[in-house]
Amino acid sequence: MSLKQVADIVVRGTAGAIGGGASLVLLDSTHTRLIHSSSWGLPQFYLRKGLLKADKSLSEVSNGQVVVISEVRGDSRIQYPELAAKAGIASLLGVPVTIGAVTVGSLRAYSKSTTEFTQADINFVTAMANLAAMGIRVHLLEQEKQKFEKAMNEAESGTALLRQVRSVTFAHPSEEELAHILDFYQIDWVYEPRSFPLTWESDRITEMFTPDFYLPALDLYIELTTLKQSLVTEKNRKLRRLRELYPEIAINLLYKKDIHRLLAKYGCGPLAQAKGQGIGKTLFSNVEIQRRVQELAQQISIDYTDRRPIMVGILRGVFCFIADLVRAMTIPVEVEFMAISHYEAKGNSVRITKDLEMDVSGRHLIVVEDIVDTGMTLNYMLHYLNGKQPASLAVCALLDKKVRRMAEVRLDYIGFEVPDEFVVGYGLDYKDEYRNLPFIGTLESPQVEVGQTASGKVVKGG
Ligand code: IMP
Repeated sequence: MSLKQVADIVVRGTAGAIGGGASLVLLDSTHTRLIHSSSWGLPQFYLRKGLLKADKSLSEVSNGQVVVISEVRGDSRIQYPELAAKAGIASLLGVPVTIGAVTVGSLRAYSKSTTEFTQADINFVTAMANLAAMGIRVHLLEQEKQKFEKAMNEAESGTALLRQVRSVTFAHPSEEELAHILDFYQIDWVYEPRSFPLTWESDRITEMFTPDFYLPALDLYIELTTLKQSLVTEKNRKLRRLRELYPEIAINLLYKKDIHRLLAKYGCGPLAQAKGQGIGKTLFSNVEIQRRVQELAQQISIDYTDRRPIMVGILRGVFCFIADLVRAMTIPVEVEFMAISHYEAKGNSVRITKDLEMDVSGRHLIVVEDIVDTGMTLNYMLHYLNGKQPASLAVCALLDKKVRRMAEVRLDYIGFEVPDEFVVGYGLDYKDEYRNLPFIGTLESPQVEVGQTASGKVVKGG
């Protein structure tokens, strides 16, 4: 449905309910003029009455207030009183059309007989104005989508993204590192995609916020802060305001330490230069793990009775988990393994280093993962496996590090949720150590100087 169709429905509904006319006017980009978007039940000469100035024509509504005028005649808030009289308008009710905290226009209901508008009238017209606001939001999102689709088409046809990586001047090395990680997972990104107005003084924008990245495929903005965590109060305030004003957008705040942790996972960056200092605390004992694995196996056996699933383990961290899981299952299963290449500081791209050996089309697949962190590995794997046309595709992850999720992937079976800490044991490693621990614990993290940049290249299995 187009914006015009939404506007027409809103004004007709409003006019019908009030028993007169209605019009929807929207502020132009300078916030000084009002543009007629749609109207119903009003004579043409009234609609063409001339320039509607935001500060003259029911200026209170443009400032976000409801205006009720029972007697239009003689009221100074009416910009064209003679024409209103000629059109037979006796009373008027104006409500703002708002998106977040921003007024973008007003919906006006006109009656030909003198009317004392009730609270129910105001509520109804406000509800109609909210519908109009929703229509405008959908329209704006559609415009954004089209812009990004255009950019993505360009990227496909002319490797525009590669040109972009080379031509973008990043404000900080951590941003460049994140760009390389995203490139590795073939997740498209746009650097400093757009600015969101945050505050206004009359019609002047006084504060804006420009997130560092937008990931169109994940519909996610990322703000990367290189400040110390203790110094980010101001940034947090801006983020809060952004979320209030634009509730439909998803934005993640990453700290420099998050990038270091992402890099450390692949044996790169400053954290990986330091030797781990041993196990911090035990999160799950072997008894707890075995109990939970039995429960998962039981549940999967019930859900997949008569379906003979293929359990696809993603090497290498999964080897303990999948071995215990399939041994506790009570239905026939088949087991497959896959592996992918690992990030190497910059320049490489994810690829399958060990592919499935059996034909999985038309089969029920359950991907078995050790841990899901940002979700980028799983996101890539699921796209790849979907292309093999399985009958169904589910995910069973032993550990879910939910707080660091970037790619929203559906996890059907989860062993445990873990905090935002590097964990090892029961197959999970740090620089190839600790895989043989029978329990899962946190790694006592090595200390890294603030300001140090990531570098180095150590390839390891996951
Ligand atoms: P993601 O792509 O960020 O979700 O990361 C998934 C992969 O990173 C897992 O399969 C692990 O190999 C590795 N990984 C993520 N977090 C940890 C951790 O805390 N300890 C050990 N490996 C991890």
